[in-house]
Amino acid sequence: MLPASKTKNEEQRIKDLLDYSILDTPNGSSYDDLTLLASKICQTPVAIISLVDRERQWFKSTIGLDAKETPREVSICGHAIHGKDMFIVPNTAQDERFADNPVVVGANIQFYAGAPLVSPNGNSIGTLCVVDFAPRELTEDQKIALAALSRQVMNLLELHRANIIEKERFKELEIASKTISENQAQLVNSSKMAEIGEMAAGIAHEVNNPLAIIVASADLLLGMSNEGDVPKEKFQKYLSNIITNSYRASKIILSLKTLSRNADQDPFVPVLVSDVLNETLDICTQRLKSNGVKLDVDVQDGIKFTGKQSQILQVLTNLLNNSYDAIQELEEKWIKITSFKENNEIVIQVTDSGSGIPAEILEKIMQPFFTTKSVTKGTGLGLSVSKRIIDSHKGQFLVDEKNKNTSFVIKLPCSI
Ligand SMILES: Nc1ncnc2c1ncn2[C@@H]1O[C@H](COP(=O)(O)OP(=O)(O)OP(=O)(O)O)[C@@H](O)[C@H]1O
Ligand SMILES: [Mg+2]
Repeated sequence: MLPASKTKNEEQRIKDLLDYSILDTPNGSSYDDLTLLASKICQTPVAIISLVDRERQWFKSTIGLDAKETPREVSICGHAIHGKDMFIVPNTAQDERFADNPVVVGANIQFYAGAPLVSPNGNSIGTLCVVDFAPRELTEDQKIALAALSRQVMNLLELHRANIIEKERFKELEIASKTISENQAQLVNSSKMAEIGEMAAGIAHEVNNPLAIIVASADLLLGMSNEGDVPKEKFQKYLSNIITNSYRASKIILSLKTLSRNADQDPFVPVLVSDVLNETLDICTQRLKSNGVKLDVDVQDGIKFTGKQSQILQVLTNLLNNSYDAIQELEEKWIKITSFKENNEIVIQVTDSGSGIPAEILEKIMQPFFTTKSVTKGTGLGLSVSKRIIDSHKGQFLVDEKNKNTSFVIKLPCSI
């Protein structure tokens, strides 16, 4: 017996075979159809799609044979893959390479014809073969048909590979899109944190004021408690001061909490415009007032939009901060916020005393990271994140270019 040896192009051949990721995959009906056709056309009891691995031949599909694989060195296919042409052994008993091959003898294989499965690189990775239990020949037509079927096996293998590549690409796309959403969420967060950072001094002031009043009132109450005959009204006045200012401090802290929380999972719900504006003002007013900015708020009563309160708070906070930055050096410093219902939409307009944004800057302001501020002052994310938030609300976020002052407009779906 002549054991099947490695081919000259063995490494390349194995690489081509492994590239198909087909070894040890379950049976497939399309492959079985081709072995069935091969056995019918060649009129043999056995037909096999055999793939020759490093040390074994593995059968992707068999007709008339139960085995799943055999060692490579006793395989006839191991000889067939040394070339690209059909390999025929008309009578194994008279062929010294196979006459005493234990598998050939054991299975009574007397006739073999194998059409190599040739990869696009020209390497034979296996065969489509037919086997008979008596010596015989194939007609020319049968040989032509077997060769044609072997090319169909290759087409199936190519399809299988394309499928796997497609699935991997899909997985990569899924991972990429997940990463993008995570990055976007981080952007929203970092822009939010930048807003909070920028306002830290104002916020400290905002919370400090009521605390100072609370401490002073408590001090006075303590003093009075030692004095004896203090009128009841005085006690009540200072106590009520303490309650009002505690309430104010807790409101500011609550607004800050709303601003910094992650709203990704929040539902879209009806939100009163006045509620979200009050929250915004809780955080921003002190900073504006202490820098001489006049604030004018005009909100139609009881109007509601459908959305996420904390995200709209974030948008409004950024708009107020942007206005504050833009008008800081101006002689006339004012910000006007108006909100009304129009055509089933809630319009919120933030206008400042600036005289509009120059065209060359205006075209870039919605781009992430575009900023005209110093590195420590602006990330350039505020407006792009705001636009993304309003888009996710199915609303509109625009600059009112007709206004002689700088004016941003938010339109949100109205809630009844
Ligand atoms: N009210 C405004 N008046 C004039 N220019 C403005 C106004 N609002 C925004 N801009 C311009 O648009 C740019 C981008 O604003 P955006 O809010 O996106 O980022 P930023 O304020 O620079 O940084 P941050 O990420 O901290 O918000 C600003 O740097 C500024 O040049
Ligand atoms: Mg900003």
